[in-house]
Amino acid sequence: MSTKIVIDCDPGHDDAIAILLALASPEVELTGVTTVAGNQTLDKTTRNALVTLEIAGRSDIPVAAGAEAPLRRELRTAAHVHGETGLDGPELHEPSSRPVGGPAADFLAELMEPGVVLVPTAPLTNVALLLERHPDVHERIERIVWMGGAIGEGNVTPAAEFNAFVDPEAAAAVFASGIPITMIGLDVTHKALFTREHAERLRSTGRAGRFVAELSDFFQQFHERSYGFGGSPIHDAMAIAHVIDPTLVTTRHANVAVETRSELCDGRTVVDLRGVTGREPNADVGVDVDAERFLELLVSRIASLP
Ligand code: RIB
Ligand code: CA
Repeated sequence: MSTKIVIDCDPGHDDAIAILLALASPEVELTGVTTVAGNQTLDKTTRNALVTLEIAGRSDIPVAAGAEAPLRRELRTAAHVHGETGLDGPELHEPSSRPVGGPAADFLAELMEPGVVLVPTAPLTNVALLLERHPDVHERIERIVWMGGAIGEGNVTPAAEFNAFVDPEAAAAVFASGIPITMIGLDVTHKALFTREHAERLRSTGRAGRFVAELSDFFQQFHERSYGFGGSPIHDAMAIAHVIDPTLVTTRHANVAVETRSELCDGRTVVDLRGVTGREPNADVGVDVDAERFLELLVSRIASLP
């Protein structure tokens, strides 16, 4: 019995790999994709989602475009990480498929039904708008598994992880919603680095494998330059892997609050692991990961795609 999932994303190298991992895994059934501005502008993230589905031969999966900008802030993109296209590295063709009409927030409301897990791998603007416009949807979301946030150091600032930083108000609203949420943050994604060896194992396995290898070739440049890493954290794929196999990531039940009024720490996910704030726990936060098993799952599943 597979779990129905919907991915809300901003492809983005790791978003694209997350989509492919979902398509390659019988434990989950991807029923829809929604896009949001984040790593790149909405037009680019939407095109990239369509291209990724097409490469896997799954243009049957509907894509709906969402918010062009955060709820209240100027959009911050990440061209220095993902390039001007948002998927720099591989040669990209124009997708032949088009997004469905209507905004992502309404499309998400249509897709949410009991048992569905929503996997946002981007700023939470679309999810906040979904909750705002369709308050009844709470009962229809089994769980949110979000790639975002950090217990410790951020990435876009020392205090904040990118998906939280771009739209702190949206993240605050989602964590305050009462919907069961798992936070897959940098503390665990940085523990599992996809290396050139992993890329070489995929390069000749098929169209999807070559695409992932070429995405990795580009993605690796930022992580070498900025962190001195010998590989890249495929952040968003770990959120999908957590739905596929919940034994990979160890989580702790804790309160997560999001800073929205700070000069230095806007977008910080304040994770109260020891319960010192008195705030009620409202999330399950990733604190450790079996990196080896996660990476093997990722490589073996991508290799199985045409
Ligand atoms: O901080 C990493 C996250 O920000 C990932 O989801 C990446 O795709 C970007 O959206
Ligand atoms: Ca992302």
